[in-house]
Amino acid sequence: MKVAIIKERRAHERRVAASPDTVKHMTGMRLDVLVESGAGAEAYFTDEAYRAAGATIVADPAAALSQADIVLKVQRPLRGGPDGGDEVAMMKHGAVLIGLLQPLRYPDDTSAYAEAGLAAFAMELMPRITRAQTMDVLSSQANLAGYKAALDAAVEFGRALPMMMTAAGTIKAARVLVMGAGVAGLQAIATARRLGAIVSATDVRAAAKEQVASLGATFITVDEDAMKAAETSGGYAREMDEDFQRRQREKITETLRRTDIVICTALIPGKQAPILLTEAMVAALAPGSVIVDLAVESGGNVEGSRAGEIVTTANGVKIVGHINMAARVPVDASQLYARNLLAFLALIVDKEGRLRIDTADEIVKAALLTMDGAIVNPALMPEPAFAAAATS
Ligand code: NAI
Repeated sequence: MKVAIIKERRAHERRVAASPDTVKHMTGMRLDVLVESGAGAEAYFTDEAYRAAGATIVADPAAALSQADIVLKVQRPLRGGPDGGDEVAMMKHGAVLIGLLQPLRYPDDTSAYAEAGLAAFAMELMPRITRAQTMDVLSSQANLAGYKAALDAAVEFGRALPMMMTAAGTIKAARVLVMGAGVAGLQAIATARRLGAIVSATDVRAAAKEQVASLGATFITVDEDAMKAAETSGGYAREMDEDFQRRQREKITETLRRTDIVICTALIPGKQAPILLTEAMVAALAPGSVIVDLAVESGGNVEGSRAGEIVTTANGVKIVGHINMAARVPVDASQLYARNLLAFLALIVDKEGRLRIDTADEIVKAALLTMDGAIVNPALMPEPAFAAAATS
């Protein structure tokens, strides 16, 4: 069976879906691996390294995709138009497509996978169960995004982060507030602490309180009772009501008076990100303060943030809105993502290197979008079909 890895051609993407290390494992799984020449260049993986790991290098995406039984991608494949060629059309009928397919945001793409007869898997729909931890792409990528967010803040900030006692005087440690203490937020806290900042953090989930404290940061509680009900069974946050949001803003406004850097990471799966910093709150920060909005691609946590830009407000606050943060650490992000995909492959490929897709498996069921020409994921179906599929 053939596995294809091609160069990612969407804007701002520097990651690749396989590393020389995972190619070696795939060949050990009796899979033939085809890598498009230059596929790993942005992550510093050379054609030579892939070849040494057992891959065959091919000249262009069509040469890889047209032969492949399994296609490994980072971003959604191109479907023609201004972005470039039609990668979906290059794939074989019946091929397996695995990637960050963002099915809730791009439902038309899912229909196209069904029409092309692909078995498409969206890695971000992986359930948060112990068995799926090695395949948890959201965690592996968010961790690096949180790290990079703290570094971005430090770079844009006109002061040092640690306290320094010098002959010329003492520099005060910077104060960092992290809003949303999930995977990215916790890594942002740890990184800011390593840089010497004094860190506080807030979240709506009760579980976050202990995790924040264990990293040596101060937790800002808005409402203990509301926090108990804020976590879904899947480990994610619920959308909070207007009353909670108002009280959260009041509480955070007090903290902002003593804050130099704010790193926002709050997300609600499948929904617009909550606004945590209003324009008035941003205006209350001192000139030279820095905000990093990691949620900018999901609508943003900060009023005035813009995707792909650094905005400086009238009162001299910088709002950093870099997109695809994990891709800005392309080597490690690719290594970890490739490992996640390898773990998933082991679930759907048997010891002889043949496809074995067990649609009754909880992990397969959660990630599978399309099969045999139809959309099969309950999360993407209209209500009546959803109910039928969820109980079957
Ligand atoms: P996420 O990326 O969906 O959201 C980021 C953070 O924003 C979350 O901590 C969320 O509670 C918070 N948030 C949402 N609305 C907010 C608001 N209005 N104000 C402040 N904070 C808000 O979540 P992420 O980082 O993917 O995961 C959240 C948690 O899931 C983790 O901390 C962990 O406990 C759990 N998890 C479990 C795994 C497993 O069991 N395999 C793997 C990874 C995470």
